[in-house]
Amino acid sequence: MGGIFAVVSRKNENVVPQVISGLRKLRFKGFDSTGFALIEDGILNVYKEVGWVDIVVEKLGLSERKASIALGQTRYATHGRPTAENAHPFTDCRQRIAVAGDGSIGNYEKIKDQVLMSGHKLQSRSDFEPPAHLLEESLEREDNLLNALETLKEKLEGFYTVSVLDRDTASIAAYSSMTKLYVGVSPNAFYLTNTLTALHGFTDHYIIIDPPETVFVTSEGVNVYSKGHETTPRQVLTLEVDPALVDKGGFPHHMLREIYEAPLSLLRTLYTLQEKYLQLASRLILGADNIYIIANGTSLHAGMVASYYLSELVGVSPVVTSAAEFPLYYVENIGPGSLVVAISQSGETGDVLSSLYEAKIRGATILGLTNYIGSRLARLSNVYLPIAAGPELSVPATKTFTSTLLLLYLVSLAASKESGRIDSITYREKMESVKSVASRLSETMTRMDEEVKKAIIHARNCRGGYIVSRGITYPLALEAALKLKEASYFHAEGVEAGEFKHGPFVLVEKGFMTGFIIPVERLAAEATYPLILSAIEAGASTVVFSLEGDEKLSQIQTEAVSLIRTPRAERHLAPIAYSIPLQLFAYRLGVDLGRPIDAPRYLTKAVLR
Ligand code: F6R
Repeated sequence: MGGIFAVVSRKNENVVPQVISGLRKLRFKGFDSTGFALIEDGILNVYKEVGWVDIVVEKLGLSERKASIALGQTRYATHGRPTAENAHPFTDCRQRIAVAGDGSIGNYEKIKDQVLMSGHKLQSRSDFEPPAHLLEESLEREDNLLNALETLKEKLEGFYTVSVLDRDTASIAAYSSMTKLYVGVSPNAFYLTNTLTALHGFTDHYIIIDPPETVFVTSEGVNVYSKGHETTPRQVLTLEVDPALVDKGGFPHHMLREIYEAPLSLLRTLYTLQEKYLQLASRLILGADNIYIIANGTSLHAGMVASYYLSELVGVSPVVTSAAEFPLYYVENIGPGSLVVAISQSGETGDVLSSLYEAKIRGATILGLTNYIGSRLARLSNVYLPIAAGPELSVPATKTFTSTLLLLYLVSLAASKESGRIDSITYREKMESVKSVASRLSETMTRMDEEVKKAIIHARNCRGGYIVSRGITYPLALEAALKLKEASYFHAEGVEAGEFKHGPFVLVEKGFMTGFIIPVERLAAEATYPLILSAIEAGASTVVFSLEGDEKLSQIQTEAVSLIRTPRAERHLAPIAYSIPLQLFAYRLGVDLGRPIDAPRYLTKAVLR
């Protein structure tokens, strides 16, 4: 994944400083490595290194470089660790073109094998290097970059953006299979980027390129093509962005941007996962004598959901435990037949790492799931899988949680197929249904947010509350309560619905909030409706999170209850669908109460010790 920023001067002026400052606005798209492709005296040169823009610029002396056309990228590693070789851009064998991308190419393994078979040499493990060679092959057959890009579209699968600097035509070309691209227009230069707010400070005028249109930018002008044919001139729009929000992509907080980004992150996770690694992970699961899932905080809650996935889809019952507890108790049962599934978005959480050392000493196999593939967790794992949610800058974890849930689901599905419990057709169908859940979440995001804003009234004056659920959504009650603490400093507890009347109910009264997540298991849902009525009767402020189309709820909807509906999804994907409104609720309450959303006191993104 990455931020793309390219500039073409209309007056043959040096644009390198502009590319550098454009990239600085794209931290939330990627920051582990930075690269530049420049045409200098008719030669295409690439400069790239591990690190954030300023570090790379300093290290490689970019401020001294001059070019009137330049392409830059900031990367967040998903295929291949953060190294200089894996940084974008990538060139073809003839040093004619340089390719920088965003997103994930789903059929990377296949196209990698193809270009290797054709005799190309690959320098990296990035999914964006093979496309440079596929373009090269097309350009050798016919010297036409537009046609070469059309052919590339047919060959690549996935959820990605490709941008190309072409030395021979002195142009920048780009298309996306997934998101809009933007071209900023000023009297002095054209700017191409995958993030609208990055244009701030350069120009107020821009045009939109819709997927999968192709755009060509030269010093002469901007041309847009759809299916190989030039389209009519675009409407030039005016950029309106609050300068204070530029570094958050136009959102007031990273947390909100990251929640809104979750549907895209889900698709990124889906397309980043390679079948061969899924198969490897499945075999570890199926071959293990015992399985321990270890993690902390939000990742632990994802691990709890995974125990439902594994138990129902694979027929194994893992022990799920806090990584802080693991060395104190369970570790004595660990041996060479044990599989430890370690989940950590940062990959640097101290308790997870020290538990892994203990497990490894005893001969256990480690399956690591992390959003940061340059992390120690990835290095310590026998097999690691990328969460691939992209950078998460807000301390409260949101999109990494939904993407971790998806990753755990996909691994469980793969193990289910490997064990013969589901066939390949069912497997494919279930993979496909992930896409429709992601798109439904994206379509309903604003509506859910509006419902959440109204529901805040039920919590803002309360002294605390419960989030109650049962079954596969019970871990979400724990997660929602954690998010409320972090983002809103609102004391909440997650309660298993069956336990509600075994004690917790005594606190329920006026001035206390009770939130219910309607379970997806029918009997558990049936048992929850009376609990809602009891809470209302006791005078509590009540908020109900349900799947769309829950008829039963219309009967109990009163002034005292706020209803927040998320798209209906099949049982195993419902925890993902429910996560979004729960996260929005914690966020909106935090905003309402004036909390420091992205940086709660005492917390850091990775708790090392
Ligand atoms: C919650 C949160 C923390 C982390 C926990 C584990 O929003 O951010 O609870 O989930 O510190 O972090 P990772 O997943 O990096 O190991």
